[in-house]
Amino acid sequence: MNNDALLRIAVTKGRLLEKSIGMFERAGADCAALRAPGRRLTLPVLGNIPFEVVLAKAPDVITYVEHGVCDFGIVGKDTILELGSSFYEVLDLRFGACRFVLAVPDGTDFFGGLRHRTVATKYPNVTRNFLEKKGVDADIVKIEGSVELAPILGLADGIVDIVETGGTLRENGLAPIEDVAYVSARLIANIAAVKTKKALVTDFINMCKGAL
Ligand code: PRP
Repeated sequence: MNNDALLRIAVTKGRLLEKSIGMFERAGADCAALRAPGRRLTLPVLGNIPFEVVLAKAPDVITYVEHGVCDFGIVGKDTILELGSSFYEVLDLRFGACRFVLAVPDGTDFFGGLRHRTVATKYPNVTRNFLEKKGVDADIVKIEGSVELAPILGLADGIVDIVETGGTLRENGLAPIEDVAYVSARLIANIAAVKTKKALVTDFINMCKGAL
């Protein structure tokens, strides 16, 4: 388990990291180590509330927080919706906002007719729930990245994926036809840490709130 005197925060590598660092710095923290991590995966952040940042892939952020080896995590709502939640979702950090959409090759009629459909996605659970609610009978194919390729290659009739600028969809001849959910970065907390490190945890949440 995690050291009682220090908070450990798992932060999703990639597009949420820069925005997370910005939030910490607005709160007055010194993120020099985090800004030049080299190949290090655990980095100290100094300030009124010192903490350690763990850099991880989104699903691993959830695993570390659920297992209590990290007190907090910063992760997209898309990953939370996909993997479920044995943790507290304490704050909508409002950055990393994007749409979660069903997209199809521009001009195609996904819902028309009775034919069987195939949908490619990195998010099979979210996609299954969404299509079931819409009453659409579809096969779901799990893809690990660049999901936009699946319709181009003829593997799928559509995709369910996150859209930030819309550039990837547009440049690959796809158009969104339905919104699945609103996605943004969330601060999540380990359930036990909220009790056992109550003062530190409250201070950290207030620090993040103040920096939003
Ligand atoms: C995400 C998403 C889209 C793209 C959307 O992929 O899965 O492919 O970004 O961004 P845009 O609307 O700004 O074009 P990511 O870059 O995380 O890579 P991946 O597909 O390899 O997971």
